[in-house]
Amino acid sequence: MAGQIRAPRGTRDRLRDEAPAWQRAEATASDLSARYAFDRIDTPFFERIELFSRGLGEASEAVEKQMFRVGGALGTDEERAEWALRPEPTAGIVRAYLEHGMHVQPGPLRLWLLGPMFRYDRPQAGRYRQFTQWDVEVIGDSGPMVDAELIELGHRFFAELGVLNVVAYLNSIGDANCRPAYRAALVDYFSARSDRLTDDSRRRLQDNPLRVLDDKDLDPDLAEAAPRSIDHLCDACRAHLNGVRSLLDALGVRYELDHRIVRGLDYYTRTTFEYFVAGRRGQQQALGGGGRYDGLVEQLGGPSTPGIGFGIGIDRTVLAADEQGVVTPPEAPLLVVVSVDPEAYEPRMRVAGELRQAGLRVRADGSSRKLGKQLDSAARLGARWAVIVGGELERGSVILRDLAAGEQREVALSEVPAAIG
Ligand code: HAM
Repeated sequence: MAGQIRAPRGTRDRLRDEAPAWQRAEATASDLSARYAFDRIDTPFFERIELFSRGLGEASEAVEKQMFRVGGALGTDEERAEWALRPEPTAGIVRAYLEHGMHVQPGPLRLWLLGPMFRYDRPQAGRYRQFTQWDVEVIGDSGPMVDAELIELGHRFFAELGVLNVVAYLNSIGDANCRPAYRAALVDYFSARSDRLTDDSRRRLQDNPLRVLDDKDLDPDLAEAAPRSIDHLCDACRAHLNGVRSLLDALGVRYELDHRIVRGLDYYTRTTFEYFVAGRRGQQQALGGGGRYDGLVEQLGGPSTPGIGFGIGIDRTVLAADEQGVVTPPEAPLLVVVSVDPEAYEPRMRVAGELRQAGLRVRADGSSRKLGKQLDSAARLGARWAVIVGGELERGSVILRDLAAGEQREVALSEVPAAIG
């Protein structure tokens, strides 16, 4: 027998046991997006690489190390070099925003997306090569109210899923006015102490010095004493941060200032935030993150337009819920339609159809086995109930059998939903 083919490294098949928790997380994301008046957008899973290198930055890890390049089997090397699976959705959403002239629509625009992202990273627990994000973006609103609204929205998502103890770690990394001086201060500080940096950080120090701060192996004392962006903010950026904080304080939204939340993508300005379960901050397992990107629309060829958004990782959220012992309500009980006559396919299908129409979760036995065998296999499938179709169907009734209790009685078909209620 030929060797067995396995799922690619860093990907997972999600099977039946995981489905209810995922479905609940995705349904909550969708429902909250609707309640916060976001419009759904879906963009392609792959885009031109140039979109990511211009949007996220050449030196960002997502572009430099984690691009999933794709091309047709017959494509030339140059053609293959043009496309990549999306590592994140924000750049694609802004591309679509410009391509479809959404910037001339009355704003601000509120868009949401739920779908797979791809990063060619070293897989580990909670870090996959294909993962799912719930993403929201507000384009055309310079805040600070919308910043606070989004931070609160993320919190509400975790709360509605029963994931407790989530903190939003907040920072402001300034803008084009004040960031250069901060950057220079960081380069000075870390250059003078470069012998205490990791190899990765020494490399980053030149092209992306802010990212030295989120190196998880950075010496904690060095990190603690490093220059903080909030001490280098210009007046406008400081006023913005104060505005966000006073709204969060007034609303009782749980956050902590953290000067190491610098984010890995180049498009961020001012507000940056990440969600962690309290106490997990050090382990680089953010449940979600986001921030303001007031320069991105312009960088991708549009008019100067502010923007802000976040991406929440569904995989990590489901893991956190699981770790905290959150129990997802089980699916509706299963009914299996069987029949006395082993060949009575059509009545089984008709009865199953009516019960499904009434909203029940129904399988119909498709075999030509004797009734006893059909009932055995219904019980093995985990069904709570069997609906036995026989002569009673002439008067609109079936036999409803409680498989656990081994009891049964005749019930009008229309009464089945109430009888199992
Ligand atoms: P990000 O921080 O790169 O931000 O990703 C957001 C979330 O996606 C992370 O906090 C994490 O939960 C999840 N995530 C990222 N990489 C992986 C992975 N390899 N495996 C599992 N989960 C992962 C962004 O992507 C920005 N686009 C967010 C944003 C939207 N900023 C503004 N608007």
